Amino acid sequence: MISRETIEEVLLRTDIQTLIGGYVALKRAGSNVKGLCPFHSEKTPSFTVYPADNSFYCFGCGVGGDAISFVMKMENVDYPDAVQILAKRAGITVIDDSREKYSNGPKFDKERIYKMNVDAAKFFNAQLFRDNPDSRAALDYFTKERGLSLATVKHFGLGYAPNSYDAFSKYMLSRGYTYEELVVGFLAGKSERGGYYDAFRNRVMFPIIDVSGNVIAFGGRVMDDSKPKYKNSSDTPVFKKLRNLFALNFARHTCQETIILCEGYMDVIALHSAGFTNAVATLGTAITSEQARLMSRYTKRVLICYDADEAGQKAAQRALGMLEEVGLEVRVISIPGAKDPDEYIKKYGRDRFNDVLSAAKSKFEYNLQRILSRYDINIPQQKIDAIKDLAFMISEIYSSAERDVYIREVARRMGISYESLKSVVDSQVRKNAENKKKERDRKMQQEAVGYGDKVNPDYARAPDIAKHEERVLGLMLLFPEHREKVFREDLLCEEDFFTDLGKNIFNFLREACENGDERLVTISERFTPEQMGRIVEMKASRMQLDSNGTDVLLECINNLKAAVSEKRGENNNPMDRLNDLLKKKRGG
Ligand code: UTP
Ligand code: MN
Repeated sequence: MISRETIEEVLLRTDIQTLIGGYVALKRAGSNVKGLCPFHSEKTPSFTVYPADNSFYCFGCGVGGDAISFVMKMENVDYPDAVQILAKRAGITVIDDSREKYSNGPKFDKERIYKMNVDAAKFFNAQLFRDNPDSRAALDYFTKERGLSLATVKHFGLGYAPNSYDAFSKYMLSRGYTYEELVVGFLAGKSERGGYYDAFRNRVMFPIIDVSGNVIAFGGRVMDDSKPKYKNSSDTPVFKKLRNLFALNFARHTCQETIILCEGYMDVIALHSAGFTNAVATLGTAITSEQARLMSRYTKRVLICYDADEAGQKAAQRALGMLEEVGLEVRVISIPGAKDPDEYIKKYGRDRFNDVLSAAKSKFEYNLQRILSRYDINIPQQKIDAIKDLAFMISEIYSSAERDVYIREVARRMGISYESLKSVVDSQVRKNAENKKKERDRKMQQEAVGYGDKVNPDYARAPDIAKHEERVLGLMLLFPEHREKVFREDLLCEEDFFTDLGKNIFNFLREACENGDERLVTISERFTPEQMGRIVEMKASRMQLDSNGTDVLLECINNLKAAVSEKRGENNNPMDRLNDLLKKKRGG
């Protein structure tokens, strides 16, 4: 049994584009990437990776899913083996799963876990100031190696988890906490032989505090180059890492206008101590839509200030989309001459960082610059390629008025005429539309002949109903709040679905909701890569639409119910007639 937390960790720490890129040559196609499918032979790429959703789908053969589905199919292994392969790749040890038992067991008292975390934070902090070589090394790490003042150490409540198997747990037991509580709070683990051990050992500690001031979790960093660099609490009854941000408890007071979003704890700490108290970071994962929404409650504008490396820039692009989606104004900061904001501020100081902040780029400027950085436009062929890439970027903008503004701007900068760039963009816009249509046609053809639907054999019997199902399920798969609403208000039951696949997906969603698997991380355990393909497709076709609100959900549910009951009505008709006849006979 692999715990949900482990699976979640594995998926969060796996970048699907990098993973698949190791097997398949991928080329950018707008916000997605495409390549030749490794699972069937083809000449034009229909294998698509969706980095924002951490999923993939082949329009040709229908295989799809998450990183685990990919490894299962690619390496021809079963689910647990695929998880192990990815865990190893991400430097995660798949260990005990006893937490599951506890977290699914009796409800734990939140207030007590908060209190336990405060006591733990105090313990870790006190360790920094003890008179022994380990403690001195830890304090030196913060103050000398990382250049933090004692005031900063105190402000963030930083600490040190001693290099011992159980010193921390023993202390906590002496304060009246039980091992069960420590395990639930992710402060202790249980070994296979049944013994307990401290979850954090020989690490400097960063407490994570929510906006109400509760200590909800910890991150712990090694002081050398060993791996994993950081260990973070997995989700606990009081901690949902995807819904919280590091240092938002401080930033909330000064971020009405702008939030600076960084990658690392250390970036945030360096920025705060230089006076930029509106900096926050995600908690060891790529930004989620929950975090984007959280930010939108506190600020108007987000400045993305990620690491300068390629991974950071990729992540910035993803964050851009997420943040724009919730209506935030977004800008991207580049930090020339340093690997991350922490290093930048130490090298160049706060004034220079202020300059960098005011030079933040809009999405368009940022994309433009990223494309130009890949080419030397003094070489004609490279200039042509750059123009093609730029035209592609512009072609993906929905509004033609907006496209026009950018065509003018790019033409001016590249020293080419407006008309010539416009014709390149226009033909790309047509090509995009054709490709979309081709994909639709292929799907319709398959439906028409009922061909190839081994995944959902019931589809051909009632394509209309199956389509209604896909709409409802697409909405529920995409939006946790829709799932919550459906189950809380009992809007649907298994009988409302007609196909077995639809029923299965619905039942899975209900179980996931009951088990608190909000990100549906266990989905690829339940469905084959072929079924997962269908699931990814349901999400992808929904994502293309603008209207995904509650009213649309309710309308789709009603349509589905109406279609299913009509179908049942048809089937029942002969029976009804028979019954009528019998009644008449008896009566007469
Ligand atoms: P970085 O590797 O950039 O770390 O990861 P950093 O915070 O800049 O740390 P320093 O400056 O090297 O000390 C950025 C963030 O990604 C998460 C952490 O939240 C980290 O702050 N991370 C990184 C992990 O959760 N685990 C890891 O093993 C590495
Ligand atoms: Mn960093």
